Amino acid sequence: MPERRLPTIVVLATGGTIAGAQAEAATHAYRAGALDVGQLLAAAPALAQLAHIQAEQVTSVGSQNMTHAVWADLARRVEALSRNPSVDGIVVTHGTDTLEETAYFLSLVIRHDKPLVLVGAMRPATAPGADGPANLFHAVALAGRAEAAGRGPLVVMNEDVHYAREVQKVACAGVNAFASPNRGRAAVMRGPAVHFFSRNDSVHSTASEFSLEMLDKAGWPRVEVIHAGVDLGSDLIDFLATRVQGIVLAGVGDGNATDVAMQALARAMANGVAVVRSSRTGSGHVGRNVEVDDDAAGFIAAGELSPQKARILLMLGLSKTQNSTQLQDFFDRY
Ligand code: SIN
Repeated sequence: MPERRLPTIVVLATGGTIAGAQAEAATHAYRAGALDVGQLLAAAPALAQLAHIQAEQVTSVGSQNMTHAVWADLARRVEALSRNPSVDGIVVTHGTDTLEETAYFLSLVIRHDKPLVLVGAMRPATAPGADGPANLFHAVALAGRAEAAGRGPLVVMNEDVHYAREVQKVACAGVNAFASPNRGRAAVMRGPAVHFFSRNDSVHSTASEFSLEMLDKAGWPRVEVIHAGVDLGSDLIDFLATRVQGIVLAGVGDGNATDVAMQALARAMANGVAVVRSSRTGSGHVGRNVEVDDDAAGFIAAGELSPQKARILLMLGLSKTQNSTQLQDFFDRY
């Protein structure tokens, strides 16, 4: 029988709970990013049956401390590896707190179709029943499969595969913390095999109009999120409008807020700050002119994007244009 060629997979490590270590086995407390990529791989010896692995440590942070500078380094490294014909796929290990943001960002700035899989873990590597080794096994298997190509970055957690645009961390603890609330998961892993349920029809990767070069040129426009609730005032919005190029409203319900907050957002818009309305509810579609007169105020409706993903798309959108009609067009398509 001819010998099966194993794919070459590069694992880029960035830290997170998947590389987390407890000070004592019996305590719940741990430090994210304490272990290096060599230690992560040593805990998953079955990987050798799946692929030839090359490993690189990009950074070692808890993902609450992920930065735009690391995003730029990571994206450039992924781009370079994707141009290397001897590399079949790329895996990024990442903390789970902002994993969905990194995945979405990479889906918009990386111009290639090679399999790219992001993975984390909810339990530190030293915990009983650590989920990291199994998640890493699935990530490496997926990155080596032809079916994973051309779908943009994929996220694997707890045997489920998610598209970058859809995935959300929906619980702060437990191994089943990831979901794709609007459109459902993309696929399931069955050991090293994958079974896809759907195609990814959002714009991403080679079809994306955005790039790191554009962001660098525009100085990575600053966008922040305002979280709406009962009796939200106007002062924080007025202050923010003096500091940022874009504001995302994590609004109640259909992307709404108190009258005074909406008036402050309209003032911000009139002063040249782009305002996107999204929902704090976790799923659904925020459409134009439903409860709020977006046409009058010039607001942009986030559609299906969560506030944290709307923040990324607005930053990228502002690297190209400040025109709210064009920005709305990005939100309708990406
Ligand atoms: C982090 O995001 O780095 C900490 C939490 C985790 O990885 O689960």
